[in-house]
Amino acid sequence: MNEQITQDKKMGKILFNIIKKYKIYLLIIVVFVILNTYFSTYPSSIIGKITDLLYDINQNKTEIMNNVFYLVGIAVLLLLLRLPWRSLCAFLSRYLEKDLKNKIFEQFLKIKLQNLQEIKNGELMAYITKDVTEIRVFFYRIISYGTRIIMTTIIGMYVMITGVSLKLTLAIIPPVLITVYLIIKIRKYVEKSFKKAQKYFTDLSEFVQESTDAIRTTKAYCGERNRLKEFIKKNKLLKQSNNVVDVHSTLLSICINICVGLCFGITLIYGSNLVHTGEITVGDLVTFNGYISLIIWPLSWLPGIIARYKRAQISCERLNKFFCLEREKIYIDNKKTMDSLKGDIKINDLSFNYASTIEVALEHINLEIKQGQTLGIMGTIGSGKTTLMNLLLKLYPVSNGKIFIGGRDINDIPVIELRKNICYITQDNFLFSTTLRDNISLFREDYDDDEIIESTKSALINDDIQEMKNGIHTIIGERGVDLSGGQKQRVVISRAFLQKSNIVIFDDTFSALDNRTEEKLLKNVRELTKDKTCIIISNRISDIKDADNIILLDSGKIVEQGTHDELVRKNGLYTKFYNQQSSKEKMEIFA
Ligand SMILES: Nc1ncnc2c1ncn2[C@@H]1O[C@H](COP(=O)(O)OP(=O)(O)O)[C@@H](O)[C@H]1O
Ligand SMILES: [Mg+2]
Repeated sequence: MNEQITQDKKMGKILFNIIKKYKIYLLIIVVFVILNTYFSTYPSSIIGKITDLLYDINQNKTEIMNNVFYLVGIAVLLLLLRLPWRSLCAFLSRYLEKDLKNKIFEQFLKIKLQNLQEIKNGELMAYITKDVTEIRVFFYRIISYGTRIIMTTIIGMYVMITGVSLKLTLAIIPPVLITVYLIIKIRKYVEKSFKKAQKYFTDLSEFVQESTDAIRTTKAYCGERNRLKEFIKKNKLLKQSNNVVDVHSTLLSICINICVGLCFGITLIYGSNLVHTGEITVGDLVTFNGYISLIIWPLSWLPGIIARYKRAQISCERLNKFFCLEREKIYIDNKKTMDSLKGDIKINDLSFNYASTIEVALEHINLEIKQGQTLGIMGTIGSGKTTLMNLLLKLYPVSNGKIFIGGRDINDIPVIELRKNICYITQDNFLFSTTLRDNISLFREDYDDDEIIESTKSALINDDIQEMKNGIHTIIGERGVDLSGGQKQRVVISRAFLQKSNIVIFDDTFSALDNRTEEKLLKNVRELTKDKTCIIISNRISDIKDADNIILLDSGKIVEQGTHDELVRKNGLYTKFYNQQSSKEKMEIFA
Protein backbone atom coordinates (compact mmCIF):
# COMPACT_ATOMS: atom_id res chain seq x y z
CA MET A 1 0.00 0.00 0.00
CA ASN A 2 2.75 2.39 1.04
CA GLU A 3 4.78 1.41 -1.96
CA GLN A 4 1.75 2.13 -4.14
CA ILE A 5 1.51 5.64 -2.71
CA THR A 6 5.19 6.36 -3.26
CA GLN A 7 4.91 4.95 -6.78
CA ASP A 8 1.98 7.23 -7.59
CA LYS A 9 4.04 10.18 -6.48
CA LYS A 10 7.17 9.29 -8.36
CA MET A 11 6.52 11.68 -11.22
CA GLY A 12 5.55 14.45 -8.78
CA LYS A 13 8.80 13.92 -6.95
CA ILE A 14 10.82 14.08 -10.15
CA LEU A 15 9.12 17.32 -11.20
CA PHE A 16 9.50 18.76 -7.73
CA ASN A 17 13.22 18.00 -7.69
CA ILE A 18 13.71 19.61 -11.09
CA ILE A 19 11.76 22.73 -10.14
CA LYS A 20 13.59 22.91 -6.82
CA LYS A 21 16.81 23.31 -8.75
CA TYR A 22 15.47 26.52 -10.25
CA LYS A 23 13.74 27.98 -7.18
CA ILE A 24 15.61 31.27 -7.46
CA TYR A 25 14.21 31.83 -10.96
CA LEU A 26 10.78 30.99 -9.67
CA LEU A 27 11.11 33.54 -6.89
CA ILE A 28 12.23 36.21 -9.34
CA ILE A 29 9.21 35.41 -11.53
CA VAL A 30 6.84 35.87 -8.57
CA VAL A 31 8.46 39.23 -7.76
CA PHE A 32 8.05 40.29 -11.39
CA VAL A 33 4.40 39.23 -11.39
CA ILE A 34 3.71 41.23 -8.25
CA LEU A 35 5.43 44.32 -9.67
CA ASN A 36 3.73 43.92 -13.01
CA THR A 37 0.30 43.48 -11.53
CA TYR A 38 0.73 46.33 -9.14
CA PHE A 39 1.81 48.78 -11.83
CA SER A 40 -0.95 47.49 -14.14
CA THR A 41 -3.48 49.08 -11.79
CA TYR A 42 -1.93 52.50 -12.31
CA PRO A 43 -3.26 53.31 -15.81
CA SER A 44 -6.89 52.84 -14.66
CA SER A 45 -6.48 55.14 -11.70
CA ILE A 46 -4.61 57.75 -13.78
CA ILE A 47 -7.33 57.69 -16.46
CA GLY A 48 -9.94 58.07 -13.71
CA LYS A 49 -8.05 61.02 -12.32
CA ILE A 50 -7.78 62.63 -15.77
CA THR A 51 -11.53 62.10 -16.25
CA ASP A 52 -12.24 64.07 -13.07
CA LEU A 53 -9.80 66.79 -14.13
CA LEU A 54 -11.53 67.16 -17.50
CA TYR A 55 -14.34 69.10 -15.80
CA ASP A 56 -12.17 72.16 -15.88
CA ILE A 57 -9.66 71.67 -18.67
CA ASN A 58 -8.26 75.21 -18.59
CA GLN A 59 -7.58 75.21 -14.87
CA ASN A 60 -6.20 71.65 -14.78
CA LYS A 61 -4.25 71.75 -18.02
CA THR A 62 -0.79 71.19 -16.48
CA GLU A 63 -2.03 68.52 -14.10
CA ILE A 64 -3.73 66.70 -16.97
CA MET A 65 -0.54 66.85 -19.02
CA ASN A 66 1.50 65.60 -16.06
CA ASN A 67 -0.86 62.67 -15.70
CA VAL A 68 -0.62 61.90 -19.40
CA PHE A 69 3.18 61.78 -19.14
CA TYR A 70 2.82 59.65 -16.04
CA LEU A 71 0.57 57.29 -18.00
CA VAL A 72 3.10 56.98 -20.81
CA GLY A 73 5.87 56.38 -18.26
CA ILE A 74 3.90 53.57 -16.61
CA ALA A 75 3.15 52.00 -20.00
CA VAL A 76 6.88 51.98 -20.82
CA LEU A 77 7.72 50.56 -17.39
CA LEU A 78 5.15 47.78 -17.85
CA LEU A 79 6.65 46.91 -21.21
CA LEU A 80 10.14 46.82 -19.71
CA LEU A 81 8.98 44.60 -16.87
CA ARG A 82 7.14 42.27 -19.20
CA LEU A 83 10.15 41.37 -21.31
CA PRO A 84 12.38 39.81 -18.59
CA TRP A 85 9.38 38.32 -16.85
CA ARG A 86 8.03 36.52 -19.92
CA SER A 87 11.51 35.47 -21.03
CA LEU A 88 12.25 34.04 -17.61
CA CYS A 89 9.01 32.03 -17.68
CA ALA A 90 9.93 30.65 -21.11
CA PHE A 91 13.51 29.86 -20.02
CA LEU A 92 12.38 28.12 -16.89
CA SER A 93 9.90 25.93 -18.72
CA ARG A 94 12.59 25.01 -21.26
CA TYR A 95 14.90 24.03 -18.39
CA LEU A 96 12.16 21.81 -17.03
CA GLU A 97 11.69 20.27 -20.47
CA LYS A 98 15.40 19.59 -20.90
CA ASP A 99 15.84 18.03 -17.47
CA LEU A 100 12.75 15.89 -17.85
CA LYS A 101 13.93 14.57 -21.21
CA ASN A 102 17.27 13.66 -19.65
CA LYS A 103 15.48 11.82 -16.85
CA ILE A 104 13.27 9.92 -19.29
CA PHE A 105 16.15 8.79 -21.44
CA GLU A 106 18.18 7.79 -18.40
CA GLN A 107 15.24 5.75 -17.11
CA PHE A 108 14.82 4.10 -20.52
CA LEU A 109 18.46 3.01 -20.57
CA LYS A 110 18.35 1.67 -17.04
CA ILE A 111 15.03 -0.18 -17.07
CA LYS A 112 15.23 -3.95 -16.75
CA LEU A 113 14.90 -5.55 -20.15
CA GLN A 114 11.86 -7.58 -19.15
CA ASN A 115 10.07 -4.35 -18.19
CA LEU A 116 10.90 -2.71 -21.50
CA GLN A 117 8.40 -5.03 -23.13
CA GLU A 118 5.67 -3.01 -21.48
CA ILE A 119 6.67 -0.02 -23.58
CA LYS A 120 5.15 -0.19 -27.01
CA ASN A 121 6.93 0.77 -30.17
CA GLY A 122 7.15 4.54 -30.51
CA GLU A 123 6.01 5.12 -26.95
CA LEU A 124 9.39 6.39 -25.79
CA MET A 125 9.37 8.87 -28.64
CA ALA A 126 5.93 10.06 -27.51
CA TYR A 127 7.20 10.50 -23.94
CA ILE A 128 10.14 12.61 -25.05
CA THR A 129 8.25 14.72 -27.56
CA LYS A 130 4.55 14.91 -26.78
CA ASP A 131 4.29 14.28 -23.04
CA VAL A 132 7.24 16.47 -22.13
CA THR A 133 5.83 19.26 -24.29
CA GLU A 134 2.44 18.99 -22.58
CA ILE A 135 4.09 19.29 -19.19
CA ARG A 136 6.26 22.20 -20.32
CA VAL A 137 3.35 24.13 -21.80
CA PHE A 138 1.27 23.63 -18.66
CA PHE A 139 4.17 24.67 -16.47
CA TYR A 140 4.65 27.77 -18.59
CA ARG A 141 0.98 28.65 -18.32
CA ILE A 142 1.04 28.20 -14.56
CA ILE A 143 4.11 30.33 -13.95
CA SER A 144 3.15 33.04 -16.38
CA TYR A 145 -0.67 33.10 -16.40
CA GLY A 146 -1.55 31.19 -13.22
CA THR A 147 0.51 33.43 -10.98
CA ARG A 148 -0.92 36.45 -12.79
CA ILE A 149 -4.52 35.33 -12.13
CA ILE A 150 -3.85 34.94 -8.41
CA MET A 151 -2.00 38.24 -8.10
CA THR A 152 -4.49 40.29 -10.10
CA THR A 153 -7.36 38.90 -8.05
CA ILE A 154 -5.66 39.82 -4.77
CA ILE A 155 -4.17 43.17 -5.82
CA GLY A 156 -7.17 44.08 -8.01
CA MET A 157 -9.67 43.50 -5.19
CA TYR A 158 -7.46 45.46 -2.84
CA VAL A 159 -7.26 48.55 -5.07
CA MET A 160 -10.99 48.32 -5.88
CA ILE A 161 -11.88 48.38 -2.20
CA THR A 162 -9.32 50.92 -1.03
CA GLY A 163 -9.17 53.06 -4.18
CA VAL A 164 -12.83 53.19 -5.24
CA SER A 165 -15.64 51.62 -3.24
CA LEU A 166 -16.22 48.58 -1.05
CA LYS A 167 -19.93 48.54 -1.97
CA LEU A 168 -19.25 48.48 -5.71
CA THR A 169 -16.63 45.75 -5.24
CA LEU A 170 -19.09 43.61 -3.26
CA ALA A 171 -21.66 44.10 -6.03
CA ILE A 172 -19.50 42.46 -8.67
CA ILE A 173 -18.43 39.50 -6.52
CA PRO A 174 -21.60 37.36 -7.19
CA PRO A 175 -21.19 37.24 -10.99
CA VAL A 176 -17.48 36.45 -10.59
CA LEU A 177 -18.28 33.62 -8.15
CA ILE A 178 -21.02 32.26 -10.44
CA THR A 179 -18.59 32.24 -13.35
CA VAL A 180 -15.91 30.43 -11.35
CA TYR A 181 -18.56 27.87 -10.31
CA LEU A 182 -19.65 27.36 -13.94
CA ILE A 183 -16.05 27.01 -15.08
CA ILE A 184 -15.46 24.27 -12.51
CA LYS A 185 -18.68 22.50 -13.59
CA ILE A 186 -17.91 22.65 -17.30
CA ARG A 187 -14.32 21.63 -16.61
CA LYS A 188 -15.54 18.10 -15.76
CA TYR A 189 -17.03 17.74 -19.24
CA VAL A 190 -13.91 19.20 -20.79
CA GLU A 191 -11.82 16.63 -18.93
CA LYS A 192 -14.02 13.76 -20.04
CA SER A 193 -14.10 14.79 -23.66
CA PHE A 194 -10.42 15.52 -23.64
CA LYS A 195 -9.56 12.11 -22.25
CA LYS A 196 -11.52 10.56 -25.08
CA ALA A 197 -9.81 12.74 -27.68
CA GLN A 198 -6.44 11.84 -26.21
CA LYS A 199 -7.23 8.13 -26.49
CA TYR A 200 -8.14 8.48 -30.16
CA PHE A 201 -5.00 10.48 -30.73
CA THR A 202 -2.86 7.72 -29.19
CA ASP A 203 -4.74 5.14 -31.27
CA LEU A 204 -4.00 7.06 -34.42
CA SER A 205 -0.33 7.61 -33.53
CA GLU A 206 0.17 3.93 -32.79
CA PHE A 207 -1.54 3.05 -36.03
CA VAL A 208 0.78 5.35 -37.98
CA GLN A 209 3.82 3.96 -36.19
CA GLU A 210 2.74 0.40 -36.89
CA SER A 211 2.02 1.29 -40.52
CA THR A 212 5.52 2.65 -41.06
CA ASP A 213 7.02 -0.50 -39.56
CA ALA A 214 4.76 -2.69 -41.66
CA ILE A 215 4.84 -0.85 -44.98
CA ARG A 216 6.68 -3.68 -46.77
CA THR A 217 4.25 -6.28 -45.50
CA THR A 218 1.32 -4.02 -46.40
CA LYS A 219 2.57 -3.61 -49.93
CA ALA A 220 3.37 -7.30 -50.24
CA TYR A 221 -0.21 -8.33 -49.58
CA CYS A 222 -1.75 -5.28 -51.33
CA GLY A 223 -3.21 -4.09 -48.06
CA GLU A 224 -3.03 -0.35 -48.86
CA ARG A 225 -6.78 0.00 -49.26
CA ASN A 226 -7.55 -1.72 -45.98
CA ARG A 227 -4.98 0.27 -44.09
CA LEU A 228 -6.24 3.55 -45.56
CA LYS A 229 -9.84 2.67 -44.68
CA GLU A 230 -8.77 1.93 -41.12
CA PHE A 231 -6.82 5.19 -40.94
CA ILE A 232 -9.77 7.24 -42.22
CA LYS A 233 -12.00 5.62 -39.60
CA LYS A 234 -9.61 6.37 -36.77
CA ASN A 235 -8.97 9.89 -38.03
CA LYS A 236 -12.71 10.58 -38.16
CA LEU A 237 -13.15 9.44 -34.57
CA LEU A 238 -10.34 11.77 -33.54
CA LYS A 239 -11.90 14.68 -35.39
CA GLN A 240 -15.29 14.07 -33.79
CA SER A 241 -13.84 13.87 -30.30
CA ASN A 242 -11.83 17.04 -30.93
CA ASN A 243 -15.06 18.76 -32.01
CA VAL A 244 -16.61 17.93 -28.64
CA VAL A 245 -13.56 19.34 -26.88
CA ASP A 246 -13.86 22.51 -28.96
CA VAL A 247 -17.55 22.91 -28.05
CA HIS A 248 -16.81 22.56 -24.36
CA SER A 249 -13.92 24.99 -24.57
CA THR A 250 -16.15 27.52 -26.36
CA LEU A 251 -18.75 27.12 -23.62
CA LEU A 252 -16.09 28.07 -21.10
CA SER A 253 -15.20 31.21 -23.05
CA ILE A 254 -18.86 32.18 -23.29
CA CYS A 255 -19.16 31.89 -19.51
CA ILE A 256 -16.36 34.37 -19.07
CA ASN A 257 -17.86 36.77 -21.58
CA ILE A 258 -21.17 36.67 -19.73
CA CYS A 259 -19.34 37.39 -16.51
CA VAL A 260 -17.58 40.40 -18.05
CA GLY A 261 -20.89 41.70 -19.39
CA LEU A 262 -22.60 41.30 -16.02
CA CYS A 263 -19.81 43.04 -14.15
CA PHE A 264 -19.83 46.02 -16.50
CA GLY A 265 -23.63 46.14 -16.36
CA ILE A 266 -23.71 46.13 -12.56
CA THR A 267 -20.95 48.75 -12.39
CA LEU A 268 -22.76 50.99 -14.83
CA ILE A 269 -26.13 50.82 -13.06
CA TYR A 270 -25.02 50.63 -9.43
CA GLY A 271 -21.95 52.83 -10.00
CA SER A 272 -24.05 55.62 -11.61
CA ASN A 273 -26.25 55.53 -8.54
CA LEU A 274 -23.23 55.95 -6.29
CA VAL A 275 -22.04 58.86 -8.45
CA HIS A 276 -25.46 60.36 -8.18
CA THR A 277 -25.41 60.14 -4.38
CA GLY A 278 -21.90 61.58 -4.39
CA GLU A 279 -20.22 58.53 -2.86
CA ILE A 280 -17.82 58.22 -5.80
CA THR A 281 -16.79 60.49 -8.67
CA VAL A 282 -17.19 59.83 -12.41
CA GLY A 283 -13.43 59.34 -12.49
CA ASP A 284 -13.75 56.61 -9.82
CA LEU A 285 -16.32 54.85 -11.99
CA VAL A 286 -13.95 54.98 -14.95
CA THR A 287 -11.13 53.66 -12.75
CA PHE A 288 -13.36 50.87 -11.48
CA ASN A 289 -14.19 49.80 -15.04
CA GLY A 290 -10.47 49.62 -15.72
CA TYR A 291 -9.97 47.42 -12.66
CA ILE A 292 -12.74 45.08 -13.78
CA SER A 293 -10.97 44.54 -17.08
CA LEU A 294 -7.77 43.98 -15.15
CA ILE A 295 -9.32 41.23 -13.01
CA ILE A 296 -11.62 39.64 -15.56
CA TRP A 297 -9.16 39.52 -18.42
CA PRO A 298 -6.87 36.96 -16.71
CA LEU A 299 -9.98 34.87 -15.96
CA SER A 300 -10.28 34.27 -19.68
CA TRP A 301 -7.01 32.35 -19.46
CA LEU A 302 -8.55 29.91 -16.99
CA PRO A 303 -10.18 27.53 -19.53
CA GLY A 304 -6.89 27.32 -21.42
CA ILE A 305 -5.02 26.52 -18.23
CA ILE A 306 -7.62 23.94 -17.24
CA ALA A 307 -7.45 22.23 -20.62
CA ARG A 308 -3.68 22.25 -20.44
CA TYR A 309 -3.82 20.95 -16.89
CA LYS A 310 -5.80 17.94 -18.03
CA ARG A 311 -3.41 17.22 -20.87
CA ALA A 312 -0.39 17.59 -18.60
CA GLN A 313 -2.03 15.37 -15.98
CA ILE A 314 -2.56 12.57 -18.48
CA SER A 315 1.04 12.94 -19.64
CA CYS A 316 2.22 12.86 -16.03
CA GLU A 317 0.23 9.68 -15.36
CA ARG A 318 1.79 8.04 -18.38
CA LEU A 319 5.27 9.11 -17.40
CA ASN A 320 4.64 8.07 -13.82
CA LYS A 321 3.94 4.54 -15.01
CA PHE A 322 7.13 4.63 -17.04
CA PHE A 323 9.21 5.92 -14.14
CA CYS A 324 7.80 3.19 -11.90
CA LEU A 325 9.27 0.45 -14.11
CA GLU A 326 12.03 -1.20 -12.16
CA ARG A 327 15.60 -0.35 -13.05
CA GLU A 328 18.53 -2.65 -13.32
CA LYS A 329 21.19 -2.24 -10.66
CA ILE A 330 24.11 -1.78 -13.02
CA TYR A 331 26.70 0.00 -11.00
CA ILE A 332 28.47 -1.30 -7.95
CA ASP A 333 27.91 0.64 -4.75
CA ASN A 334 31.32 0.14 -3.25
CA LYS A 335 34.16 1.39 -5.33
CA LYS A 336 36.23 -1.78 -5.37
CA THR A 337 38.13 -2.38 -8.57
CA MET A 338 36.57 -4.86 -10.92
CA ASP A 339 38.21 -8.24 -11.23
CA SER A 340 38.46 -9.80 -14.59
CA LEU A 341 36.07 -12.74 -14.51
CA LYS A 342 37.45 -16.16 -15.27
CA GLY A 343 35.85 -17.73 -18.30
CA ASP A 344 34.62 -21.01 -16.77
CA ILE A 345 30.87 -21.34 -17.17
CA LYS A 346 28.72 -23.85 -15.35
CA ILE A 347 24.98 -24.08 -15.80
CA ASN A 348 22.91 -26.18 -13.42
CA ASP A 349 19.33 -27.16 -14.16
CA LEU A 350 18.47 -23.82 -15.73
CA SER A 351 14.90 -23.14 -16.84
CA PHE A 352 13.39 -19.90 -18.01
CA ASN A 353 10.28 -18.42 -19.49
CA TYR A 354 9.56 -14.87 -20.61
CA ALA A 355 7.01 -13.13 -18.41
CA SER A 356 4.85 -12.29 -21.42
CA THR A 357 4.37 -15.92 -22.49
CA ILE A 358 3.56 -19.17 -20.78
CA GLU A 359 5.77 -21.13 -23.13
CA VAL A 360 9.02 -22.31 -21.61
CA ALA A 361 12.02 -20.82 -23.43
CA LEU A 362 14.63 -22.98 -21.68
CA GLU A 363 14.15 -26.22 -19.80
CA HIS A 364 16.57 -28.01 -17.44
CA ILE A 365 19.77 -26.89 -19.12
CA ASN A 366 22.98 -28.41 -17.72
CA LEU A 367 26.28 -27.38 -19.23
CA GLU A 368 29.91 -26.84 -18.45
CA ILE A 369 32.51 -24.90 -20.42
CA LYS A 370 36.04 -24.41 -19.19
CA GLN A 371 38.10 -21.37 -20.03
CA GLY A 372 39.92 -21.98 -23.32
CA GLN A 373 37.16 -24.20 -24.65
CA THR A 374 34.70 -23.49 -27.44
CA LEU A 375 31.04 -24.38 -27.26
CA GLY A 376 28.97 -24.67 -30.43
CA ILE A 377 25.22 -24.21 -30.21
CA MET A 378 22.86 -25.32 -32.90
CA GLY A 379 19.10 -25.25 -32.99
CA THR A 380 16.09 -24.20 -35.00
CA ILE A 381 14.72 -20.65 -34.83
CA GLY A 382 13.10 -20.06 -31.47
CA SER A 383 14.82 -23.00 -29.81
CA GLY A 384 16.24 -20.76 -27.08
CA LYS A 385 19.80 -20.08 -28.23
CA THR A 386 19.65 -16.30 -27.80
CA THR A 387 17.65 -16.69 -24.60
CA LEU A 388 20.48 -18.72 -23.09
CA MET A 389 22.91 -15.92 -23.96
CA ASN A 390 20.51 -13.32 -22.55
CA LEU A 391 20.67 -15.16 -19.26
CA LEU A 392 24.46 -15.40 -19.32
CA LEU A 393 24.50 -11.61 -19.59
CA LYS A 394 21.82 -11.30 -16.90
CA LEU A 395 19.64 -9.38 -19.33
CA TYR A 396 16.83 -11.35 -17.71
CA PRO A 397 16.82 -12.62 -14.14
CA VAL A 398 18.18 -16.07 -13.44
CA SER A 399 15.80 -17.48 -10.88
CA ASN A 400 15.16 -21.06 -11.88
CA GLY A 401 18.43 -22.94 -11.77
CA LYS A 402 21.97 -21.66 -11.42
CA ILE A 403 24.66 -20.16 -13.60
CA PHE A 404 28.22 -19.93 -12.32
CA ILE A 405 30.80 -17.82 -14.11
CA GLY A 406 34.40 -18.03 -12.99
CA GLY A 407 33.08 -20.10 -10.09
CA ARG A 408 30.77 -17.32 -8.87
CA ASP A 409 27.00 -17.44 -8.84
CA ILE A 410 25.85 -15.07 -11.58
CA ASN A 411 23.38 -13.48 -9.20
CA ASP A 412 26.28 -12.39 -6.98
CA ILE A 413 28.23 -10.82 -9.84
CA PRO A 414 27.47 -7.12 -10.34
CA VAL A 415 25.96 -6.46 -13.76
CA ILE A 416 28.72 -4.07 -14.80
CA GLU A 417 31.45 -6.57 -13.91
CA LEU A 418 29.68 -9.36 -15.76
CA ARG A 419 28.98 -7.43 -18.95
CA LYS A 420 32.43 -5.89 -19.15
CA ASN A 421 33.88 -9.37 -19.09
CA ILE A 422 31.68 -10.86 -21.78
CA CYS A 423 31.91 -9.79 -25.38
CA TYR A 424 28.55 -10.59 -26.93
CA ILE A 425 28.28 -10.19 -30.68
CA THR A 426 24.54 -10.04 -31.23
CA GLN A 427 22.68 -11.49 -34.15
CA ASP A 428 20.98 -8.28 -35.23
CA ASN A 429 24.14 -6.56 -36.65
CA PHE A 430 22.89 -3.28 -35.34
CA LEU A 431 25.09 -0.31 -36.15
CA PHE A 432 24.68 3.18 -34.73
CA SER A 433 24.58 6.04 -37.18
CA THR A 434 28.01 7.26 -36.20
CA THR A 435 31.60 6.49 -37.22
CA LEU A 436 32.83 2.97 -37.80
CA ARG A 437 35.33 3.66 -35.04
CA ASP A 438 32.63 4.33 -32.46
CA ASN A 439 30.66 1.37 -33.70
CA ILE A 440 33.59 -0.92 -33.08
CA SER A 441 34.82 0.58 -29.81
CA LEU A 442 31.22 1.11 -28.68
CA PHE A 443 32.03 4.69 -27.70
CA ARG A 444 34.84 3.69 -25.35
CA GLU A 445 37.73 6.08 -25.60
CA ASP A 446 40.41 3.83 -24.17
CA TYR A 447 41.23 2.23 -27.53
CA ASP A 448 43.52 3.97 -29.98
CA ASP A 449 43.04 3.99 -33.74
CA ASP A 450 45.77 1.38 -34.30
CA GLU A 451 44.06 -1.11 -32.00
CA ILE A 452 40.79 -0.55 -33.80
CA ILE A 453 42.34 -0.95 -37.24
CA GLU A 454 44.05 -4.14 -36.03
CA SER A 455 40.67 -5.52 -34.97
CA THR A 456 39.13 -4.70 -38.33
CA LYS A 457 41.98 -6.58 -39.99
CA SER A 458 41.23 -9.66 -37.90
CA ALA A 459 37.55 -9.33 -38.74
CA LEU A 460 38.44 -9.10 -42.43
CA ILE A 461 36.70 -5.79 -42.96
CA ASN A 462 39.81 -3.61 -43.13
CA ASP A 463 40.12 -3.81 -46.92
CA ASP A 464 36.57 -2.56 -47.34
CA ILE A 465 37.19 0.25 -44.83
CA GLN A 466 40.39 1.27 -46.60
CA GLU A 467 38.36 1.95 -49.70
CA MET A 468 36.27 4.51 -47.82
CA LYS A 469 37.60 8.05 -47.89
CA ASN A 470 37.62 8.54 -44.15
CA GLY A 471 38.60 5.03 -43.13
CA ILE A 472 37.42 4.10 -39.66
CA HIS A 473 36.16 7.67 -39.23
CA THR A 474 33.54 7.16 -41.91
CA ILE A 475 30.06 7.84 -40.65
CA ILE A 476 27.62 5.08 -41.39
CA GLY A 477 24.51 6.01 -43.31
CA GLU A 478 26.01 9.32 -44.44
CA ARG A 479 26.33 10.14 -48.12
CA GLY A 480 25.47 6.68 -49.30
CA VAL A 481 27.78 4.82 -46.95
CA ASP A 482 25.58 1.81 -46.73
CA LEU A 483 27.10 -1.49 -45.80
CA SER A 484 26.02 -4.88 -47.04
CA GLY A 485 24.80 -7.48 -44.55
CA GLY A 486 28.16 -9.26 -44.64
CA GLN A 487 30.09 -6.02 -44.14
CA LYS A 488 27.89 -5.08 -41.21
CA GLN A 489 28.50 -8.47 -39.63
CA ARG A 490 32.24 -8.07 -39.95
CA VAL A 491 32.17 -4.55 -38.46
CA VAL A 492 30.26 -5.94 -35.50
CA ILE A 493 32.63 -8.92 -35.25
CA SER A 494 35.58 -6.49 -34.99
CA ARG A 495 34.37 -5.73 -31.48
CA ALA A 496 35.30 -9.25 -30.42
CA PHE A 497 38.88 -8.71 -31.55
CA LEU A 498 39.10 -5.38 -29.76
CA GLN A 499 37.66 -6.18 -26.36
CA LYS A 500 39.84 -8.18 -24.08
CA SER A 501 37.16 -10.21 -22.39
CA ASN A 502 37.55 -13.79 -21.29
CA ILE A 503 34.24 -14.84 -22.73
CA VAL A 504 33.35 -14.22 -26.37
CA ILE A 505 29.95 -15.04 -27.81
CA PHE A 506 29.02 -15.04 -31.49
CA ASP A 507 25.26 -15.25 -31.88
CA ASP A 508 24.58 -16.30 -35.45
CA THR A 509 27.06 -13.73 -36.68
CA PHE A 510 28.60 -15.58 -39.60
CA SER A 511 25.43 -16.19 -41.57
CA ALA A 512 25.91 -13.43 -44.16
CA LEU A 513 29.50 -14.35 -44.99
CA ASP A 514 30.60 -16.31 -48.01
CA ASN A 515 32.39 -19.61 -47.45
CA ARG A 516 35.90 -18.31 -48.08
CA THR A 517 35.59 -15.29 -45.80
CA GLU A 518 33.95 -17.43 -43.18
CA GLU A 519 36.79 -19.91 -43.21
CA LYS A 520 39.44 -17.20 -42.81
CA LEU A 521 37.47 -15.46 -40.13
CA LEU A 522 36.99 -18.65 -38.16
CA LYS A 523 40.73 -19.15 -38.19
CA ASN A 524 41.18 -15.69 -36.67
CA VAL A 525 38.45 -16.39 -34.14
CA ARG A 526 40.17 -19.61 -33.12
CA GLU A 527 43.43 -17.71 -32.70
CA LEU A 528 41.68 -15.01 -30.63
CA THR A 529 39.85 -17.41 -28.37
CA LYS A 530 42.47 -20.06 -27.85
CA ASP A 531 42.76 -19.14 -24.16
CA LYS A 532 39.25 -17.79 -23.83
CA THR A 533 35.80 -19.21 -23.51
CA CYS A 534 34.08 -19.03 -26.86
CA ILE A 535 30.47 -19.69 -27.68
CA ILE A 536 29.49 -19.90 -31.31
CA ILE A 537 25.81 -20.06 -32.16
CA SER A 538 25.32 -21.14 -35.71
CA ASN A 539 23.37 -23.56 -37.79
CA ARG A 540 26.29 -24.06 -40.15
CA ILE A 541 28.23 -27.18 -39.33
CA SER A 542 31.41 -25.53 -40.64
CA ASP A 543 31.25 -22.86 -37.92
CA ILE A 544 31.03 -25.23 -35.00
CA LYS A 545 32.55 -28.53 -36.07
CA ASP A 546 35.86 -27.77 -34.33
CA ALA A 547 34.21 -26.84 -31.04
CA ASP A 548 35.13 -28.82 -27.91
CA ASN A 549 31.48 -29.39 -27.24
CA ILE A 550 28.37 -28.90 -29.33
CA ILE A 551 24.82 -28.76 -28.04
CA LEU A 552 21.65 -29.00 -30.06
CA LEU A 553 18.70 -27.09 -28.70
CA ASP A 554 15.12 -27.90 -29.54
CA SER A 555 12.18 -26.15 -27.87
CA GLY A 556 14.42 -24.97 -25.05
CA LYS A 557 15.91 -28.39 -24.31
CA ILE A 558 19.33 -29.83 -25.03
CA VAL A 559 18.50 -32.77 -27.25
CA GLU A 560 22.00 -33.79 -28.31
CA GLN A 561 25.45 -33.04 -27.02
CA GLY A 562 29.01 -33.99 -27.86
CA THR A 563 31.89 -33.29 -30.24
CA HIS A 564 31.34 -33.16 -33.98
CA ASP A 565 32.54 -36.74 -34.50
CA GLU A 566 30.47 -38.09 -31.63
CA LEU A 567 27.36 -36.31 -32.88
CA VAL A 568 27.80 -37.46 -36.46
CA ARG A 569 27.99 -41.03 -35.23
CA LYS A 570 24.82 -40.64 -33.16
CA ASN A 571 22.69 -40.57 -36.27
CA GLY A 572 20.33 -38.03 -34.75
CA LEU A 573 19.29 -34.48 -35.54
CA TYR A 574 22.89 -33.30 -35.92
CA THR A 575 23.63 -36.01 -38.44
CA LYS A 576 20.58 -34.89 -40.37
CA PHE A 577 21.86 -31.30 -40.44
CA TYR A 578 25.30 -32.57 -41.38
CA ASN A 579 24.04 -34.69 -44.26
CA GLN A 580 21.81 -31.89 -45.52
CA GLN A 581 24.65 -29.38 -45.47
CA SER A 582 27.26 -31.62 -46.99
CA SER A 583 24.98 -32.58 -49.89
CA LYS A 584 24.22 -28.88 -50.41
CA GLU A 585 27.91 -28.12 -50.36
CA LYS A 586 28.54 -30.84 -52.93
CA MET A 587 25.81 -29.37 -55.10
CA GLU A 588 27.43 -25.94 -54.80
CA ILE A 589 30.82 -27.37 -55.75
CA PHE A 590 29.38 -29.10 -58.82
CA ALA A 591 27.26 -26.14 -59.80
N1 LIG B 1 11.60 -10.88 -25.42
C1 LIG B 1 10.86 -11.99 -25.56
N2 LIG B 1 9.62 -12.04 -24.99
C2 LIG B 1 8.88 -13.16 -25.10
N3 LIG B 1 9.26 -14.26 -25.73
C3 LIG B 1 10.47 -14.27 -26.32
C4 LIG B 1 11.34 -13.13 -26.26
N4 LIG B 1 12.47 -13.42 -26.91
C5 LIG B 1 12.32 -14.68 -27.37
N5 LIG B 1 11.13 -15.18 -27.01
C6 LIG B 1 10.63 -16.55 -27.29
O1 LIG B 1 11.51 -17.46 -26.66
C7 LIG B 1 11.77 -18.55 -27.51
C8 LIG B 1 13.27 -18.64 -27.76
O2 LIG B 1 13.69 -17.51 -28.50
P1 LIG B 1 15.21 -17.23 -28.86
O3 LIG B 1 16.04 -17.56 -27.69
O4 LIG B 1 15.30 -15.87 -29.41
O5 LIG B 1 15.43 -18.30 -30.03
P2 LIG B 1 16.66 -18.52 -30.98
O6 LIG B 1 17.72 -17.55 -30.65
O7 LIG B 1 17.03 -19.92 -30.76
O8 LIG B 1 16.11 -18.33 -32.36
C9 LIG B 1 10.96 -18.32 -28.76
O9 LIG B 1 9.77 -19.06 -28.64
C10 LIG B 1 10.69 -16.85 -28.76
O10 LIG B 1 9.46 -16.58 -29.36
MG1 LIG C 1 18.61 -16.11 -31.76
